[in-house]
Amino acid sequence: MRGMAIRPILIAPDPRLREKSLPVEAVDDDLRALMDDMLETMYAAPGIGLAAIQVGVPKRVIVMDLAGKDEAPNPLYFVNPVILDPADETVPYEEGCLSVPEFYEDVERPVSCRVQYLDYHGKEQVLEAEGLLATCIQHEMDHLEGILFIDHLSRLKRERILKKLKKEQKLAAAQGDGCGDPACNHLGH
Ligand code: NI
Repeated sequence: MRGMAIRPILIAPDPRLREKSLPVEAVDDDLRALMDDMLETMYAAPGIGLAAIQVGVPKRVIVMDLAGKDEAPNPLYFVNPVILDPADETVPYEEGCLSVPEFYEDVERPVSCRVQYLDYHGKEQVLEAEGLLATCIQHEMDHLEGILFIDHLSRLKRERILKKLKKEQKLAAAQGDGCGDPACNHLGH
């Protein structure tokens, strides 16, 4: 047995975030260890969804937990997820991303869909998703294709955000980012 570990989250414009993730061949203990780490990393951030590529692992794996502050944790694990039957109707939702810290913008996506995937134990599942769950799963699915939510914005908005992120990372590097916590996302302190 090994304990869970918080892994550093890649921040845009890190080119690894543009990689297309590869299908998982087996849901085994190694993969479960990755999913455990991803969940721990997501909770610590804190965030509600995380794709493996965000911790530098190009595998088609997503973890999510949409439970509210006063609710019991409800971790969801998606291995090799596929979106089925996206609704024609779309809704805007203000999205953020742990790899695009501190920027929030409206993104328009299908209001509902179904997701077919393997769960934590490698069992095939189908989930009906609507509302925040539908938005979140589609956002995370984008990560598996190397797509970020800012790619759904105008070029002007996207470039402005990337420029700010680059500037903050440069500043953090110049200052030596004295935090010492490898999982810390706070840039420039
Ligand atoms: Ni994201």
